[in-house]
Amino acid sequence: MTSRGFFSAFDDVWLLDGVRTPMVDYCGALGHVSPTDMGIKAARAALARAGVAGDDIGSVVAGNMAPGDFDQFCLPRHVGLYAGVPMQVPAIMVQRICGTGFELFRQAGEHVQGGACDAALVVGTESMTRNPIASFEHRTGFKLGAPVGFKDFMWEALKDPAPGINMIQTAENLARKYGITREEVDQFASDSFAKAVAAQQSGFHAGEIVPVVTEKFELEGYHPRGIRLSGKVTEVNADTHARPSPVEVLAKLKPVYEGGVQTGGNSSALVDAAAAAIVASGDYARAWTKRQGRKPLGRVVAAAAVGVPPEIMGIGPAPAIRLLLARTGLTLNQIDRLEINEAQGAQTLAVARELGLDLARLNVNGGAIALGHPLAATGVRLTVTLAREMKRAQVRYGISSACVGGGQGIALLIENPEVA
Ligand SMILES: CC(C)(COP(=O)(O)OP(=O)(O)OC[C@H]1O[C@@H](n2cnc3c(N)ncnc32)[C@H](O)[C@@H]1OP(=O)(O)O)[C@@H](O)C(=O)NCCC(=O)NCCS
Repeated sequence: MTSRGFFSAFDDVWLLDGVRTPMVDYCGALGHVSPTDMGIKAARAALARAGVAGDDIGSVVAGNMAPGDFDQFCLPRHVGLYAGVPMQVPAIMVQRICGTGFELFRQAGEHVQGGACDAALVVGTESMTRNPIASFEHRTGFKLGAPVGFKDFMWEALKDPAPGINMIQTAENLARKYGITREEVDQFASDSFAKAVAAQQSGFHAGEIVPVVTEKFELEGYHPRGIRLSGKVTEVNADTHARPSPVEVLAKLKPVYEGGVQTGGNSSALVDAAAAAIVASGDYARAWTKRQGRKPLGRVVAAAAVGVPPEIMGIGPAPAIRLLLARTGLTLNQIDRLEINEAQGAQTLAVARELGLDLARLNVNGGAIALGHPLAATGVRLTVTLAREMKRAQVRYGISSACVGGGQGIALLIENPEVA
């Protein structure tokens, strides 16, 4: 695999703290909540949890893929304003599809390292439910008898027209290339569910979740907005997809494509969620540590992004991680924990096989097969989960990473300040 790509190193950039909403199966209790409002909720909670005043934020870096409301163009701005960031502070939308959340840290790292600001608010948010049913053809009207062009944006957006296949088929290509069987994918998925359930029972996941309730977000001089939960639900405080999933049960599910290895049980779950974090400069982080009496969650050491062939997009993390290691002079053996997004089971197994990765260090609290993959929120969720797990296990280095539709991979290297 190529070692060409994009690399950023950071000397003194810190992830202070982070938090997320629960990840809720699509068409569930968060189904009526716009990605902007989920983002505001996560952003407010991240500031509160970090003990950082909105006033201290000098940049809002937000990500969202599917337009989940008509005001999506203003999403980063509205998230910043309704989270209490000052009027004068600008906000930007970032898009690297499933790699968006990681890219948010990379860009925020550049903002603070370059001296553009002391602290940045990073927010990834995604409503899979509110993917629109869209048409790009009807502004000029309908011809009598002509086919109506409305389609499901979510299903259509999972296709890559360059190779002419969808994301599940890219994983099937990897399964064939790496000789990965249905049994192996189901076993990997079953383990992901078991690890997620165990981490739920031990309270690990609850440690990064802010419960979501029906509530109003006020902003002086402007229209209030807010969250209304679906149905009779009054509070959502836990992820909904993870459940015990014995391999014999998963083995009975029909493959998405005849003869293929991917099913609804061993592919990433479609969920609604947002995640947010605070990234700060060394000076800010050291003053923060004095004030808070605790160390940041992690040091953001470096980031790498690469391109791979679109028809095997899922292999992206392998060359991204290789580039990250080559440029930082570390070896895979020195990386104690990895969070690699489980877009599809065969895809993650192909990455592990390509890298010769020990599965015992991978996604130890469950992955997206069990917990879900809210596209732009995923990288923030994985990086916060990784840093928290590194603190729990008292290990020094960790990598969070994902493949990206269209053929890319992105990876972040995080160091635990309690062990460094
Ligand atoms: C694979 C995919 C198409 C399946 O979608 P779906 O058909 O709506 O999936 P469902 O959740 O309904 O699951 C299909 C079946 O498996 C069952 N199932 C899923 N997980 C299960 C589990 N852990 N245990 C038991 N049964 C399970 C469901 O109950 C359902 O059964 P039913 O058909 O009897 O209702 C969809 O999840 C997907 O595309 N995921 C990947 C997303 C992706 O690629 N993201 C971008 C990455 S680049």
